[in-house]
Amino acid sequence: MTTTPLLQVTDLTKHFPTRTSAFRSGGVVKAVDNVSFSVGAGQTLGLVGESGCGKSTTGRLLMRLLEPTSGSIKLDGREISELRRGDLQDYRRRVQMVFQNPSSSLNPRQSVGSAIAAPLLAQRINPPTGIKATVRDLMDRVGLRPDHYNRFPHEFSGGQKQRVGIARALALDPKLIICDEPVSALDVSVQAQVINLLEDIQRDTGVAYLFIAHDLSVVKHFAHRVAVMYLGRIMEHGDTREVFDNPRHPYTQALLSAVPQADPDADRSGRVRLAGDLPSPANPPSGCVFRSRCPLRLTLDEKSASRCADEVPAGSPACHHIDIDIEER
Ligand SMILES: Nc1ncnc2c1ncn2[C@@H]1O[C@H](COP(=O)(O)OP(=O)(O)OP(=O)(O)O)[C@@H](O)[C@H]1O
Ligand code: SF4
Ligand SMILES: [Mg+2]
Repeated sequence: MTTTPLLQVTDLTKHFPTRTSAFRSGGVVKAVDNVSFSVGAGQTLGLVGESGCGKSTTGRLLMRLLEPTSGSIKLDGREISELRRGDLQDYRRRVQMVFQNPSSSLNPRQSVGSAIAAPLLAQRINPPTGIKATVRDLMDRVGLRPDHYNRFPHEFSGGQKQRVGIARALALDPKLIICDEPVSALDVSVQAQVINLLEDIQRDTGVAYLFIAHDLSVVKHFAHRVAVMYLGRIMEHGDTREVFDNPRHPYTQALLSAVPQADPDADRSGRVRLAGDLPSPANPPSGCVFRSRCPLRLTLDEKSASRCADEVPAGSPACHHIDIDIEER
């Protein structure tokens, strides 16, 4: 018997209509296109890809801040688009979000204690020990001092503000936290502290994370599984170790070969460079969306290469030609 994952996303799609001009009829931006993945209870999935590939849109669909164009999102086996009233309120407790920019997600006129208490008050939850004691406990769990309670966000560093954001996300004891680039705006040394904190919290509470990042190296030591997105689609997903040790999709290979020199674990022997610019998601290539930049495609005969243009590859790795070794060109 297979167990139901905490979160199961199947063929999730979000197309935004583009503005109609006097010259052009309206098209769509395929921000998220047939994306499927799952997150197990207490696990971390790293969702990684370049700017504009659809990571935040995926997060906002999961938060029900956006309606999907099509596809399914199930939490504990229940379709979230079908939730009404009480069940929906329950869903909003169980799934929380931490944002990239802690400054803009906090109200400058609200004290830190009030900011952390806000989700409890909004959900009309009155913990047995009282709101204040609960907030102090949350502050302690994220490494904030009791005397921070009455301070305001401007008195805090970026890392501290992100701790407030995490405490607030934890207030309702969620099952899943969507972390949308929570460390991208922080100094490198502070990034590691915040990631360690998230790991400690996961160990203590069993919360699952969908951890969105630009850079694969951020999730390497911390995500159980990774999914690599490009232009609204998932190119490859799998166990983190397997994807790092044996990246199979040409895009994953390119991303991994571009890790900065500072990473001592980086293997630069098979460096792959991507040609050309990132296409617009309003006008993605037909067939495989990666084909305009794919180094593997350049090595194929005409018939094989035409398949890249004609057929959308499914599954993981999403490539028609992965059996051809990119190093043996
Ligand atoms: N409300 C919207 N209306 C129209 N287009 C949108 C909207 N939200 C996002 N998009 C477009 O959808 C695509 C995906 O955007 P998204 O913010 O999900 O990317 P991202 O991977 O989070 O990028 P980043 O790394 O820069 O945060 C982009 O082309 C973006 O311009
Ligand atoms: S399907 Fe073709 S274009 Fe896409 S990744 Fe594979 S070889 Fe490259
Ligand atoms: Mg984003």
